[in-house]
Amino acid sequence: MKGVILHGGRGTRLRPLTHTGPKQLIPIANKPMSQYALEDLRNSGITDIAVVLGDVAPEKVIEYYGDGSKFGVRLTYIHQGEPRGIAHAVGLARDFVGDDPFIVYLGDNLIKGGIKSHVEDFRKSSAAAHIALCHVRNPEAFGVAELDNKGRIMRLVEKPKTPSSDLALVGIYMFRSSIFDAIDRLRPSWRGELEITDAIQGLLEMGLEVSSHVISGWWKDTGRPEDILEANHLILSDLTSYNKGKLEDEVAVTGKIAIEEGTVIKSKSTLRGPLIIGRDCEVGPCTYVGPYTSIGDNVVIRGGEVENSIVLSNALIDCGKRIVDSLVGRESRVVSNETTLPKGYRLVIGENTSITL
Ligand code: DAU
Repeated sequence: MKGVILHGGRGTRLRPLTHTGPKQLIPIANKPMSQYALEDLRNSGITDIAVVLGDVAPEKVIEYYGDGSKFGVRLTYIHQGEPRGIAHAVGLARDFVGDDPFIVYLGDNLIKGGIKSHVEDFRKSSAAAHIALCHVRNPEAFGVAELDNKGRIMRLVEKPKTPSSDLALVGIYMFRSSIFDAIDRLRPSWRGELEITDAIQGLLEMGLEVSSHVISGWWKDTGRPEDILEANHLILSDLTSYNKGKLEDEVAVTGKIAIEEGTVIKSKSTLRGPLIIGRDCEVGPCTYVGPYTSIGDNVVIRGGEVENSIVLSNALIDCGKRIVDSLVGRESRVVSNETTLPKGYRLVIGENTSITL
């Protein structure tokens, strides 16, 4: 069985973070979100994986993952360029998968508990496709499945205005090569894309079996900044504590914390987990870092408080304020000007930035 990770799209709702790289490389608990997909595939015994690249800095994906050997997999890169739909991206993997069954994993989807047992079931079954479903409160934002009273899939609709169920399609799909015939028959949807939901509906119309299961753990599709923070919250909830850094005198620690090498927590600071702090950071003195915070490498936080936030590498926070529910991009600076005149907020901000004062 082979794997295909989708790493394209434009991530427009996550700008400005996605001006300089694909959204799937945004770290959650200090690991790019697509790495969770890759590790889930590897832990299911799938090591031959294609990564479909988009047109936002695809070279950064290749630079990070390389040939995959560091991650225990073998990677093939396929270039999609502009986003023409998930089914279009899957169609590009036809030569890569050949006659093998395969799994498509959207690189911005995270699920708890992995896919291992379902992979084994699909391998043994004769179904043309297997999909994962999840009960959601806003089905109109997803592909939606309608089941009969025996739990068999009757119909699949992409982002229906009036959904007939609350069962959303999770972005993890198992296919056999029949999906390529269904993709060949597709026409672009109202949003101008070839929809994978329509392709799977096509399999049903061809009289082929599509099996499904409803996932029991959490699932997160990380389209918006609040989704990224929620995913960070979910991943950090399962954190294992370790400390490779140095805690100076009178540092108070509660909850699970993970600290990497070279990081110093200066005196009189308070760390309240779960939280993770990368390499070579400097936190403190007299600084509070609160629950559900992920801090990347080489970050400096001097004074003030940071809670329920993601701070990416090389950022500086030195403002003595309380920063909450925030995403701070790489190399960003959040500083105060209390000693210089004129007073007031001085902003040098990029396009699509959001600041709540
Ligand atoms: O997350 C699950 C949902 O994903 C499903 O319920 C929907 O049925 C499915 O259409 C999809 O909906 P989204 O609107 O969330 O898809 P999005 O455009 O965000 O793309 C999902 C991922 O696939 C994302 O990581 C980017 C990648 N992608 C997307 C397109 C359109 C590509 O690699 N190439 C593309 O052309």
